[in-house]
Amino acid sequence: MRILVTGGAGFIGSHLVRRLLSEGHNPVVNLDALRYSGNLENLADVAHDPRYAFVHGDICDAGTVERVLKEHNIDSVVNCAAETHVDRSILEPNSFARTDVVGTAVLLEEVRKAKVARFLQVSTDEVYGSVEHGWSKEDDTLAPRSPYSASKAGADLLVLSYWATYKFPVLITRGSNTYGPNQYPEKFIPLFITNAIDDQLLPLYGDGRYRRDWLSVHDHCRAIEHVLRYGAPGNVYNIGGGNEQENITVAEMILKHLGKSMELIRFVEDRPGHDRRYAVDWSRLRLLGWSPRVRFEEGLCTTVDWYRTHESWWRKIKAGEFRAYYEEVYRKRLEEAG
Ligand code: DAU
Repeated sequence: MRILVTGGAGFIGSHLVRRLLSEGHNPVVNLDALRYSGNLENLADVAHDPRYAFVHGDICDAGTVERVLKEHNIDSVVNCAAETHVDRSILEPNSFARTDVVGTAVLLEEVRKAKVARFLQVSTDEVYGSVEHGWSKEDDTLAPRSPYSASKAGADLLVLSYWATYKFPVLITRGSNTYGPNQYPEKFIPLFITNAIDDQLLPLYGDGRYRRDWLSVHDHCRAIEHVLRYGAPGNVYNIGGGNEQENITVAEMILKHLGKSMELIRFVEDRPGHDRRYAVDWSRLRLLGWSPRVRFEEGLCTTVDWYRTHESWWRKIKAGEFRAYYEEVYRKRLEEAG
C-alpha cells in the first residue's frame, strides 16, 4: 500500500511507520506538525530509507494534506495525529478539540476528495468512559468523561458519519493503554520509570487502585496494520492487551525491576474526573486473525531497560518542555503528600 501516517513522529506513530516499512509498504509518508511530543529522533533508523518520506505539516491545514496525498499518490491513510494526554486536556482543553476533532474533520474531507481507498482512525478505549465491570464492545454507547476522550469520541463520530453518508471506506481502532520505548514521559509508565531511575518520587493518583489494560506498542501497531489490510469498511475494532493491572501493581513492578525502594511511591491528589477502569472486548479483532503476543511482565521489563539505556532521549525531554508541565501538574500534589 502507499500509506500516509499522520503524527508519525509520535510514540505510536513512529512505531507504526517502522512496522509498515518492515511489512513492505512503499512509500510510507509521515506528516507531523512536530509539536511537543513529536520527535524525529524516534525515526532516526529509517530516516534514510528511500521508501520513507517526512513532511512537516499540520492535519488542520487542508492545503498541505491535499498536496501530500497528491504528490505521493497515497491510497491509504492512518491518522495517529492527536493530542493524547488526559492531564494536559484538563489544563488546555481547546487544543484537543482543535487537533483531535477539527484536524480529523479536515483530514477526512481531503481523503474523501482524493478518493483514498482506506482511511484508518487510531482512537482509544477511553471513548467508552469508565467501565467498572465487564468489557466495552464496539457498539456500546460512547460516554467520554475528559476533554481528551470527548475530543476523540467526537472524531470517531465524524469518521463513522463518512461511512454512513458517503460510503467512504473508513476504519476505526480503539486501543487500550499502550506502553513501550519512545513514549513521552508525561504518561504513567515512562514517568514512573524515569523518576525511579533518578530516585525521584512516583506520584500515584488517588488510591492507586485504578485499573488499565496494558497493550505493548508492538502489538498495537501490528493490530493497526492488520485492520488496515483486513478490516471491513465502516467497522470499529477494539484492541486490548489482556493485561489488566492496578496502577499500584505496575508501580511496584517498575521499582522491583530497577531494584529501587517501594518507599518512592507517593499517593497524591487524584486527577479530576479520573476514570476508574478501562477494559475492552476485542473478540471482533480476534475473529479477524489478531491477538496480542507480548506478555506484560516481559514487555514492561524490556521497556524499563530501554529507558535505562536511552537516557539521553528522555533527559533532553525532561530538561526541556516537560519541566514546566511537571511543575504545574505535580509540585503542589507532591508537597501536600509530604
Ligand atoms: O486507554 C488508552 C489511553 O491510555 C490513551 O488513549 C491515552 O492517550 C493514554 O494517555 C492513556 O490514558 P490514561 O489516562 O489511562 O494514561 P496515563 O498514562 O495518563 O495514566 C495511566 C493511569 O495512571 C491512570 O489511572 C492515571 C494514573 N497516573 C498517571 C500519571 C501520569 C498516576 O497515578 N500518576 C501519574 O503521574
